Amino acid sequence: MARARLKFPRGFLWGTATSSHQVEGQNTHNDWHTWQEEGQIQNDDKPGLACDWWGGRWKEDFDRAAESGQNAHRMSIEWSRVQPTPDRWDEDALDHYREMIRGLTIRGMTPVVTLHHFTNPKWIAKKGGWENRETIQHFVPYVEKVVEALSDYVKHWCTINEPNVYATLAYLFGDFPPGKQDLGSLFKVMTNLVRGHAAAYHAIHRVQKESRAGMAVNYRGMAPARKWHPLDQFMAWFQSKMYNDFFPNAAHSGRLTFPYKIIRLPEAKGTQDFLGINYYTQELISFSLQHRQELFAHRHFDPHSKLSTTGFIAHEPQGLFQALKWGIQYGIPLMVTENGIEDPEDEIRPQYIAEHIYQLWQGINYNWPIKGYFHWTLVDNFEWERGWSQRFGLWDLDLESQARTRRKSADLYQEICRTNELTSGMVESYAPQSLERLFPG
Ligand code: FCB
Repeated sequence: MARARLKFPRGFLWGTATSSHQVEGQNTHNDWHTWQEEGQIQNDDKPGLACDWWGGRWKEDFDRAAESGQNAHRMSIEWSRVQPTPDRWDEDALDHYREMIRGLTIRGMTPVVTLHHFTNPKWIAKKGGWENRETIQHFVPYVEKVVEALSDYVKHWCTINEPNVYATLAYLFGDFPPGKQDLGSLFKVMTNLVRGHAAAYHAIHRVQKESRAGMAVNYRGMAPARKWHPLDQFMAWFQSKMYNDFFPNAAHSGRLTFPYKIIRLPEAKGTQDFLGINYYTQELISFSLQHRQELFAHRHFDPHSKLSTTGFIAHEPQGLFQALKWGIQYGIPLMVTENGIEDPEDEIRPQYIAEHIYQLWQGINYNWPIKGYFHWTLVDNFEWERGWSQRFGLWDLDLESQARTRRKSADLYQEICRTNELTSGMVESYAPQSLERLFPG
């Protein structure tokens, strides 16, 4: 019997998030394909068919989502499919996406569509990718083309997914293509991503007046490891400024604040109708001379926190509340565009879901303008440079047979989505270890 109910507003969007390269399979025209062929992925993994959405299995997966009470889905369009070469628009690919998105609406799910989720067409990469300012001039016609093709069904657009993760992993740590470790390139790319976002924002609104567009940033809570230590405090503040604040601040104010200079881009000011927050975890920061590549910040998890299977994510649900609290400073609606954990055995996920949804509700309870929540992810998919080593799905995927197996977490999430609430009864059945913390007494 439910003793307490935490209710969400009417019309709240509940869904899962995916991205083209991670679920479609057979993407051969983008820079990740080159990267894979070069053997840059853990265990030399390849996406292969991935979830075979390009082969049509999106239908069964959208059925799964809809039958589980989800009323929204966040997915991305693969630029390299729509424009495999600079002079060719692939109308069949656009039709395919139109059919998928219609498939969502027919199933009663609101689509949220991302236009750039980490991958670039090979021809863009060859021209220098986001280091080259020209990329923006190519990005805009692509954005226009997609918005024109899909505007009958889509109103919510994410311009660029996690520009902060993309820039850092591709140009500072070298884990994403083009695998650079160069501060000069990083800053150039950050600037061009803001330009790209702003140009896309304006293009979307030109084509579709009533659209709502924003970027999705990855928010990572960062606290000084030694609270009393001035250098740890400084590093945590600095890292958080550069990682969390840089992009949304730029889109809010038109000012790009680098450590040594400020660039003004008036065209970027006010280019956010909503802010997408991707929250997974938070970490501690200590100043360390040994961590030169990380700009002297040693980033690590609290030794007391519960870790995901490969140690990639620490279970820190209160960080979601902090992320939302941080997000409301921009005075625009918020959406949790990603949140989840890799956990093949589904040991922590039910607890992770229950405790994060509880924190989400805390924000709702303060009347913050939070419009939706998208769990990462529906079915296990290809996790970038980590390949198939991490399983984030509500459904398990057997890559060979393409069989999906429902995890228990899918049942919990279904109850939340269907009822638009989190109850103590749900927590008692799926995450009893969290009951006392969430519903004391
Ligand atoms: C985010 C990415 C998403 C997925 C999750 C686990 O940073 O946006 O594509 O890989 O992490």
